[in-house]
Amino acid sequence: MQAVLAPEPGGPDALVLTELPDPEPAPGEVVIDVAAAGLNRADLLQRQGHYPPPPGASDVLGMECSGTIGAVGEGVTEWQVGDEVCALLAAGGYATQVAVPAGQVMPIPAGVDLVTAAALPEVAATIWSNIVMHAGLAEGDLLLVHGGAGGIGSFAIQLASALGARVATTVGSAEKAAYCRELGATWTIPYREEDFVEIVRAEGGADVILDNMGAKYLARNVQALADGGRLVIIGMQGGTKAELDIGALMRKRGSVIGTTLRSRPTDGPRGKAAICAEVVEQVWPLVASGRVVAQVGRTFPLAEVAAAHAWMESGDHTGKILLRVEP
Ligand SMILES: NC(=O)c1ccc[n+]([C@@H]2O[C@H](COP(=O)([O-])OP(=O)(O)OC[C@H]3O[C@@H](n4cnc5c(N)ncnc54)[C@H](OP(=O)(O)O)[C@@H]3O)[C@@H](O)[C@H]2O)c1
Repeated sequence: MQAVLAPEPGGPDALVLTELPDPEPAPGEVVIDVAAAGLNRADLLQRQGHYPPPPGASDVLGMECSGTIGAVGEGVTEWQVGDEVCALLAAGGYATQVAVPAGQVMPIPAGVDLVTAAALPEVAATIWSNIVMHAGLAEGDLLLVHGGAGGIGSFAIQLASALGARVATTVGSAEKAAYCRELGATWTIPYREEDFVEIVRAEGGADVILDNMGAKYLARNVQALADGGRLVIIGMQGGTKAELDIGALMRKRGSVIGTTLRSRPTDGPRGKAAICAEVVEQVWPLVASGRVVAQVGRTFPLAEVAAAHAWMESGDHTGKILLRVEP
């Protein structure tokens, strides 16, 4: 198979498309002939040498894909060769083939084409697991999504709106603000010019915050929480170490939660397979009905993976970036 590795840490040009042995499905796994793979910001960190794949996972980049089942391992009964699917991966999506535990494979929502489906697994699983399973977002709640125009943010705005939440989001430009309002955000806050704390507090505070910034926003996120609010940190774009005002958090009966999807086991109550099952049951109907739409900003051929990484690094993109894998 062909696959993308980053043998030495570096910029986009450190990515190398190379030949590797075809994967075989282990018991409980399937092999997917990949149609497309989604880019994630963590892929940039992995390329730079800051985010190694979990122990036992492939060094091939890529945490999600869509494609057709090409082989089925022992004990797998729910998938057949030829099924069109998408999947959440620990690694290995930037390739023509990938092996994955059957529980991390999902059907393609009705009405979504095979390539576009690669934009769904990581955002749907990350957002559902964090805002609903961990933070218990409810109808009428105010959700603050940091970075609403990106891959995660653009899906979070739509999903939370579909669940009946009110959505505020931070954005880097006026164009991105307009994009986020179209997706369903009521408050778009330009993070370079305005203080999100003031605006969110004027609305009673955020019941849930989905945070990509980590350290840089910790203090202000706690200030922006409503009483009983839940801050879910999923990114470290603003660093990893910060002081927490425990008194302020306690007075609000607030919670700070941090999670990564990639390091979760496949099995277990909040493992990847359980999350995928909830996504199929709860999120796919919203996608099939058109209430939540996969946001694909640009698609690059697999061979142009360096250009795709450079485009994400520029910060000019909206929504997801995909790599298309030609047969
Ligand atoms: N923990 C997990 O399991 C998990 C899973 C998936 C993703 N993530 C994390 O989620 C985040 C988004 O990932 P992605 O793949 O969607 O990347 P992406 O498309 O590149 O989005 C990055 C976002 O960061 C925003 N941003 C940059 N500086 C900001 C600031 N100072 N304040 C607020 N927002 C700012 C950007 O907003 P503008 O474009 O408006 O500038 C952009 O929307 C990343 O941190 C990623 O690591 C975590």
